[in-house]
Amino acid sequence: MGSERVTHVVVPGTFDPVTLGHIDVIRRASRLFPKVTVAVAASVNKHAHGTTFSLEERTGMLREALELEGLSDIEVIPFTGLLVDFCRQHGAGGVVKGLRAMTDFEYELQQAGLNSHLDPDLESVFVMSGTDYGFVSSSVVREIASMGSDVSFLVPPNVERCLREHYAERYEG
Ligand code: PNS
Repeated sequence: MGSERVTHVVVPGTFDPVTLGHIDVIRRASRLFPKVTVAVAASVNKHAHGTTFSLEERTGMLREALELEGLSDIEVIPFTGLLVDFCRQHGAGGVVKGLRAMTDFEYELQQAGLNSHLDPDLESVFVMSGTDYGFVSSSVVREIASMGSDVSFLVPPNVERCLREHYAERYEG
């Protein structure tokens, strides 16, 4: 383990699409550390069927949402490959992720352990999701939106627009 103070952290994710829960985690990270970078993963091991939105769409939605939320100083960068390599390339000493429930913990513990093995100097920091966002996930958002229901309480307004356009055929049909 290194002894250098961590001043730059990465908030990584698939963000398919970004939710108000993600924004909450990013905001918390920006209160804790002077510099935050959001890393948007191109590859999605968790979802064998791929993502609903392209890497460009997911990155664009995040940038616009952060601007709307007054967090425009946070850089959003797409990445392929390992998260530890991304952090090293960008000089980040830590990764911040949100925890909603115990079910998140097991998955995150495994990822943090693996990342720590790959780079012992990289810190993993976990923040608790706000109580309003404990049940929010991208998959829940996609499911509700795909059925034509309102998701404005779960996502930023620009994302709601993108979801409406994406599922437009079903809305009309
Ligand atoms: O939003 P998600 O799906 O929980 O994000 C998962 C993500 C992208 C952070 C994770 O899959 C990841 O770090 N992918 C990059 C590949 C990698 O570094 N894998 C080894 C660590 S698990």
